[in-house]
Amino acid sequence: MSHKILFVTLSTLLLAALAGPLLPGTSTSLLAQEPEHVEEETPLQQNMSVINKGMRKLRRGLRKAESLPAALPVILEMQAAAHFCKTETPPLAARLEGDEKASFIQGYRLQVIGLQRLMLDLESAVVEGNMEQAQAVYQQMKATEDEGHEIYTEDEE
Ligand code: HEM
Repeated sequence: MSHKILFVTLSTLLLAALAGPLLPGTSTSLLAQEPEHVEEETPLQQNMSVINKGMRKLRRGLRKAESLPAALPVILEMQAAAHFCKTETPPLAARLEGDEKASFIQGYRLQVIGLQRLMLDLESAVVEGNMEQAQAVYQQMKATEDEGHEIYTEDEE
């Protein structure tokens, strides 16, 4: 091998080693380290997550009179999220057909409407500064969550 060819070969190898991490399709590529399939959240999951974060904020936010005003924007966010959940279809409905499917979707919607009512009751209690009532409604919302998940979500076991 002439010196010239050896030099070209070596510099090509060096370049490939340096550029490897930046180029897709090589084993050392940064892109190759990404998971192959990233699951995106559905609108239902996104809005359920908003409700969930709100519930966590409210767990402490309803215990002191001075924290009640800060609870109001959280409750409004949760109401908006519930509004969007209501017209989504739980994935489990895909396993059903005909009347059974229709009544499953109807039941789901009615239960989210129930949750919306409780969210309005919570808003009223907070606007009135009625902490005891606000905490009672919060507990009813937790019960609705449990009931809703029992019927309309997949068992996690
Ligand atoms: C305070 C009330 C509630 C809270 C805090 C809550 C919270 C959540 C959370 C954290 C998830 C998981 C979201 C994710 O996978 O990223 C979820 C999913 C779900 N929730 Fe709720 N939820 C509540 C009420 C309800 C009610 C009343 C129903 C039914 C009427 C319901 C039906 C569902 C369904 C069907 C899913 C599954 C979504 C999917 O996997 O595509 N939830 N919820």
